[in-house]
Amino acid sequence: MRIHRYKPQTFDLPTLNGISDKQIEVHLELYKGYVKHVNHIREQIKDLTETDSAKYAYAIAELRRRLGFEFNGMRMHEYYFTQLEGGAQAVDPDAALVQALTEKYGSFEGFIEHFTTVGMTRGVGWVILYADPKGGTVHTAWISEHELGQLGSLPVLLAIDMWEHAFMVDYLPAEKKQYIDAFLNNVNWETVAKRFECCES
Ligand SMILES: [Fe+2]
Repeated sequence: MRIHRYKPQTFDLPTLNGISDKQIEVHLELYKGYVKHVNHIREQIKDLTETDSAKYAYAIAELRRRLGFEFNGMRMHEYYFTQLEGGAQAVDPDAALVQALTEKYGSFEGFIEHFTTVGMTRGVGWVILYADPKGGTVHTAWISEHELGQLGSLPVLLAIDMWEHAFMVDYLPAEKKQYIDAFLNNVNWETVAKRFECCES
């Protein structure tokens, strides 16, 4: 079996408002760790399988259990940083995304309020806005760690990292709401709207 080696993506990030360059630098290093560990886990599964798959069956199974954490950690951070590229861009009120958000949450502002409330969930995790082409709607979900609670195969539209490493260079835990506000103010909504266009049914 040939193992594909993932490489860290680079992001063209502007100076953000309310999220410092140092915070981003620290966070990007952490992202690279996920990429490294995706490769590491998959190589270890291959090596142990080729060495003695019966003897190492338990170790191989435990490595497989960890893959979702590392792989989603890699991919979720790619969504996170990509949506900040190009700097803050206001949402187009005529975008199909806004229509879908308005149908679900009453208005775009209603969505922002809901997304922020979910972001204040206790513990570390992510908030993800998904498109659901089959259901003809969108969903906002809390994801513990990176792999627990993901909605099966739904395309990710917007993702905020609510692990403390994502904001503690700039904000105290009690200031989590300020981080969410800063993040939402830096989002390039053109990128988010385009993600939605790709999965309209
Ligand atoms: Fe993170």
